[in-house]
Amino acid sequence: MSSNSEQIRARVPHAVTRPDRIPAARYYDPEFYELEKQYLWPRVWQMACRLDEIQRPGDYVLYENLDQSIIVMRVDDTTIKAFHNHCRHRGVQLVTRSGHSSGGFICPFHGWRWNRGGENTFVFTPEGYAPDNLCADELNLVPVRCEVWAHCAFINLDMDAPPLRASLGHFAERMELWNPEELRVEWWKAARIPCNWKLAMEAFQEGYHVAMTHPQLLPPGVTNRAGDAFYGRIPEEYVTRQLWTTMGPAMKMDFNAREFAEMNIHFMKELNRGMAGMTHMQEIEVAETLVDMDLPSNPMEAGAVWNRAVNDAVMKHYEKMGANPPDLNALDAMGLASGVNFAFPHFFLLPTYGSASSYRIRPLGPEECLFELWSLTRYPAGEERPRPDEPKPVPSSDPSWPPIPAQDYANLPRQQKGLHAGFEFMRLAAEFEGLISNYQRLIDGYLAELPKEALLAAVQHVSGPIDVPVRDLGF
Ligand code: FES
Ligand SMILES: [Fe+2]
Repeated sequence: MSSNSEQIRARVPHAVTRPDRIPAARYYDPEFYELEKQYLWPRVWQMACRLDEIQRPGDYVLYENLDQSIIVMRVDDTTIKAFHNHCRHRGVQLVTRSGHSSGGFICPFHGWRWNRGGENTFVFTPEGYAPDNLCADELNLVPVRCEVWAHCAFINLDMDAPPLRASLGHFAERMELWNPEELRVEWWKAARIPCNWKLAMEAFQEGYHVAMTHPQLLPPGVTNRAGDAFYGRIPEEYVTRQLWTTMGPAMKMDFNAREFAEMNIHFMKELNRGMAGMTHMQEIEVAETLVDMDLPSNPMEAGAVWNRAVNDAVMKHYEKMGANPPDLNALDAMGLASGVNFAFPHFFLLPTYGSASSYRIRPLGPEECLFELWSLTRYPAGEERPRPDEPKPVPSSDPSWPPIPAQDYANLPRQQKGLHAGFEFMRLAAEFEGLISNYQRLIDGYLAELPKEALLAAVQHVSGPIDVPVRDLGF
């Protein structure tokens, strides 16, 4: 056993000691939650806000997670800074919500002031203080690491953390091919879910649940009943248009080009209705113009021709708007055109064609979390978008949720309850539920305070697509 593994076993209660078995207590034990608060969250890059929220100098966002309270401020057109949200006099929080202040911050208690860049500009009756209590450096707001990727500001409380881009590793390499910096917020919603934050993440880390939980996403002719030839097999990118265009028609006896096109459009609409944003309406409208196109009668070939035609038309649609869409055919060829992609620890992107859903999950307690969803798409070049308002979280059981998250949310409180009362560990399929294991073992690495190099090497490979096998993290 490596010394890193020994360190994990010695330091982490309920550590993962067999990669395909995840101890249940990790999802409710207050001690484990406390360790995450102390050793995980203060040392990882966290997506703190989208730049859509801080478009003008003076716009700021209050990002809170556990006891962390961070102000992310747009100082000027090119500078974004982050600070701890407390006054350097006696610690009062400077802001209680996101907002705008072109002049900076004034403490509500005794009126000390700071400019947008966090420099102290005013102390009331300074002559009352010993000179070494008024050192200029110590009066400025306490800075927090802040870096930008894909039109999002990320923060890290660890001043010695490796840079953001290096930490995003495989996730960033994949997603950058897809020009995510151009995406803008269409809408933003939030749910409170009575389950541990890691459980909510894991509900999206495999496509194995799709056949049972989201049967409407299955191609026609495929049922979700156990014993069905299809059920239980895990195709690589399960919820993708590739699956629909290859498997769906192959199940049908007679090929009809129009029916084939309509079926694909139906699937796009299911994803639109279900996820809103994952397959955006503007892309469906583009696909609908192709419904009468000629297609080869071999369903596999028809799938390829249809995909390429939709890709070309969608790209043309965005180019006409002056946007800069990715080369969707090239992404298809690389198997990167769609799917779910995670950035450790709590942010993910679900791109489809030129648009995406994006999720972020934060702990609210050992058995409750905040789940945010964004619909992101591309807009005509130069079009001003309004600053999106932070959503008021609604319960995950609220009937207003679109069908796909509603189906996922329905499982989570039941799973949280099921983990108690004598349930020892989750058993994982090492081939396709591996991301869950990789995430959990990386968390153990943080909780055991493994060396930074070991954690960086692991996080670079853990962040990335779903449905991957258990990976050797080197500890
Ligand atoms: S606590 Fe802020 S000025 Fe006194
Ligand atoms: Fe799901």
